[in-house]
Amino acid sequence: MIKGFSKLSKLQKLQAIAGQYFEDPEAAVKEISSFWLPDEHKQQILDGFSENTISNYILPFGVAPNFLIDGRTYCIPMVIEESSVVAAVSNAAKFWHDKGGFHTRILGTVKVGQVHFMWQGNYETLYKLMPEIKERLIKDAAHITCNMEQRGGGVLDIDLLDFTDQEAEYFQLRVKFETCDSMGANFINSVLESFADSLVAFVLEYEDIPESYKDIKIIMSILSNYTPECLVEARVSCPVAELNCAKDIDPQQFAWKFEKAVRIAHIDPYRATTHNKGIFNGVDAVILATANDFRAIEACGHTFASRDGQYRSLSYCKVENDIFHFWIHLPLAIGTIGGLTSLHPLARRSMQLLGNPTARQLMGIIASVGLAQNFAAVRSLITTGIQKGHMKMHLTNILHQLEVPASLQDVAVEHFKDKTVSYSAVRAFLETAGPSTSM
Ligand code: MEV
Repeated sequence: MIKGFSKLSKLQKLQAIAGQYFEDPEAAVKEISSFWLPDEHKQQILDGFSENTISNYILPFGVAPNFLIDGRTYCIPMVIEESSVVAAVSNAAKFWHDKGGFHTRILGTVKVGQVHFMWQGNYETLYKLMPEIKERLIKDAAHITCNMEQRGGGVLDIDLLDFTDQEAEYFQLRVKFETCDSMGANFINSVLESFADSLVAFVLEYEDIPESYKDIKIIMSILSNYTPECLVEARVSCPVAELNCAKDIDPQQFAWKFEKAVRIAHIDPYRATTHNKGIFNGVDAVILATANDFRAIEACGHTFASRDGQYRSLSYCKVENDIFHFWIHLPLAIGTIGGLTSLHPLARRSMQLLGNPTARQLMGIIASVGLAQNFAAVRSLITTGIQKGHMKMHLTNILHQLEVPASLQDVAVEHFKDKTVSYSAVRAFLETAGPSTSM
């Protein structure tokens, strides 16, 4: 037990941890602190995001250029540690660029919050009072909602839900919000907490509610990350004849196989999970680059994928009248103002790179990247398989890790063109092929 840990300075924290958990504490402190930023101001900003920070965990920040979305060409920032994802997305973007690119449509921007409470009274009594309750709740929260209302957002609706068939006395206020360009988590939670207080006050003060029903207990007030009505569609299409995707497969065969692959991801949850994981390879990378909340986006996406009771593909494919259609529906509750988006220096740069999009535009961009990633993955799977591309990147990573000189790297790449890459195979190759490396 380290007492008073949170009160220690950053260096003291690092030293305390290193002394306890690393064999060579001095080397550990040196290496971990080597990732501190030389610019103290920037470092302070980063440290402010979290607690007990001892360093920065760095991930690659890449870009996928040539993304034609709704008639505009974007260069998309992507933060991801997995090899091949940026290459695959860029490749798909290039492929669709000549075919009109990606087209997006916002299907809704509604966000959701809940006040969960226990009450002994019956639903009808409260339901009849809902117009008055709503008025009171809205009036009491006006000081929180006025700014958002000026921006065109605010509270859209408040519903009373009865769950007493599943849990005695359990009711819920389900509230719909429009939060414009902000993700709106703080706004929503503040409004909900105000609603909860006002609801309790209303029940206590309203004369026609009998004494025996005055006891209302708020369990919690919090936004829901499930936002099926904050939804975007991204779509690509082209004549089947233009699907010249791989050497050994003609466009008709390709379209047929592709449609079946997507269909399988609608039938089988095992495949659907991997299929959707590929989509989130692209989605999460942009979410991270723009400092949005990837846990919220993933949680929502997977719930949405299970909305009819079975986990299914988030993307769809149809071949009709010799036209190949491929599209995705993705719930994306994101923000482009406030939060970390404008605080994190690289997230700010990501936003500038994207032309400072509105939340609606960013939803379209992210859904397009998810669709592009899914297209690239399924295209590889039904043609060459994904290992070929992966192995190339895997080899590069191993060569870097072994600090192999550039000249020898080229020889290794040539050697492994038609061979399986593994750490031991690369070491064996280097032992015979090159001068001693720092292995
Ligand atoms: C790997 O990160 C993602 C894929 O498995 C996705 C898929 O199978 O569709 C290639």
